[in-house]
Amino acid sequence: MYHAKLDQFPNDFLWGSASAAYQVEGAWNEDGKGPSVWDNFVRIPGKTFKGTDGNVAVDHYHRYKEDVALMAEMGLKAYRFSVSWSRIFPAGKGEINEAGIQFYENLIDELLRHQIEPIVTLYHWDLPQALQDEYGGWESREIIEDFNNYCVALFERFKDKVNYWVTLNEQNVFISHGYEQASHPPGVRDRKRMYEANHIANLANAKAIQSFRQIILNGKIGPSFAYGPAYAYTSNPEDVLAAENAEDFNSHWWLDVYGWGEYPKTVWKYLEKYDLAPTMEAGDEALLKAGKPDFMGVNYYQTATFTASPLDEEFVNAKENHDGKKGNFVENGNAGLFKRKRNEALETTNWDWEIDPTGLRIGLRRITSRYGLPVLVTENGLGEFDKLEENDVINDDYRIEYIRKHIEQLQAAIADGVDLLGYCTWSFTDLLSWLNGYQKRYGFVYVDRDELNEKELRRIRKKSFYWYKDVIWSNGDRL
Ligand code: BG6
Repeated sequence: MYHAKLDQFPNDFLWGSASAAYQVEGAWNEDGKGPSVWDNFVRIPGKTFKGTDGNVAVDHYHRYKEDVALMAEMGLKAYRFSVSWSRIFPAGKGEINEAGIQFYENLIDELLRHQIEPIVTLYHWDLPQALQDEYGGWESREIIEDFNNYCVALFERFKDKVNYWVTLNEQNVFISHGYEQASHPPGVRDRKRMYEANHIANLANAKAIQSFRQIILNGKIGPSFAYGPAYAYTSNPEDVLAAENAEDFNSHWWLDVYGWGEYPKTVWKYLEKYDLAPTMEAGDEALLKAGKPDFMGVNYYQTATFTASPLDEEFVNAKENHDGKKGNFVENGNAGLFKRKRNEALETTNWDWEIDPTGLRIGLRRITSRYGLPVLVTENGLGEFDKLEENDVINDDYRIEYIRKHIEQLQAAIADGVDLLGYCTWSFTDLLSWLNGYQKRYGFVYVDRDELNEKELRRIRKKSFYWYKDVIWSNGDRL
């Protein structure tokens, strides 16, 4: 395999880890917090694995000091977390709920006290339910102003404390799951509505970045995109074209808007033909162009491999694997454009996710070549079953192996010329996986609870905890 001469990780490299409010905090109705769409969605029977919810999650809201102490012990340089909008504005807008914002101030202060750089995600899917009820959430342009006011409140409050900000987490995921697959709130299956909501989210993203520029001069802001670089299944030009289609429809459709303020022409033309293109109003284009980020945030888990698909192809709805029993993969895609295949060169996790460290290097290079922006890896990690053994031991060698191989590819990417700001693993402690309950674990720190029993929520260091500590200490020299 070709390897450029490897460079050292930069001295200020952000060795980090990440989480999201709904997945860790719990305290779902405390200190004046309003309900979010997830608080309600999880209560619909059959939506989540064994009906799990985030009412308590891993109780980070009450145990954040203990969690930050563990981060400090590990030597973590950065912690990415999200703010729950309905803690700040219980009804999505209006008066700030001081107790809600104070929680985040306490968390940020605790991190800073331990020299851990806070990376604040403004939106990780938990929309205030009130805005969904009032005007349909992301389907109304009213959200642009409400989201902006919420972001401005956080910028103003934390401008002297927080340097790194993430706007929308995985817009591609919350929009497609929310409006096409109906597996996330608001549980809609309508592609026309999906493209409209997505356009509005783009405008909200750009507007928040525009406001940021007026308030925080030295900070950095960008979206986090769930990037699954597309591969061709064979060298048959039809498959290569299918992979190009997939890259345009599944990635450039978002990335080009972030990076350039423009939709990819091929996709736009196709959507116009099928009457699916979103409504462009006067001023939209200018706003999108004004929303250029400082970095591209990348959440990387896997690549996706494609073959050609005939126009009359019919796809059955893919049954998703939410229980960790391998073998659920069903070919799916977009008739006439692409069809996803299993990549036989790759192993998969128990949740059928393909494991592809080289794909991370490929993805980072594609972003670098196309947009010329620095990149921050905002998520990467392995969701697996872990076994708590006697004497509080968790031997998660598979996680160490997974993360090590991905870090090696980061180093190769840096040598290739990628301007990489940092690497946040998913996740620091174990947490709630939206649709997969608590048994799909990602953390360096085990949290002793399961789907049915919260137990004591004890924090226990896994083997990977000590390993990542050493990686950070040696600035990536000792993998
Ligand atoms: C990302 C999300 O899509 O992947 C996280 O930003 C999520 O919130 C992570 O938890 C892993 O996905 P899952 O489905 O395994 O929890």
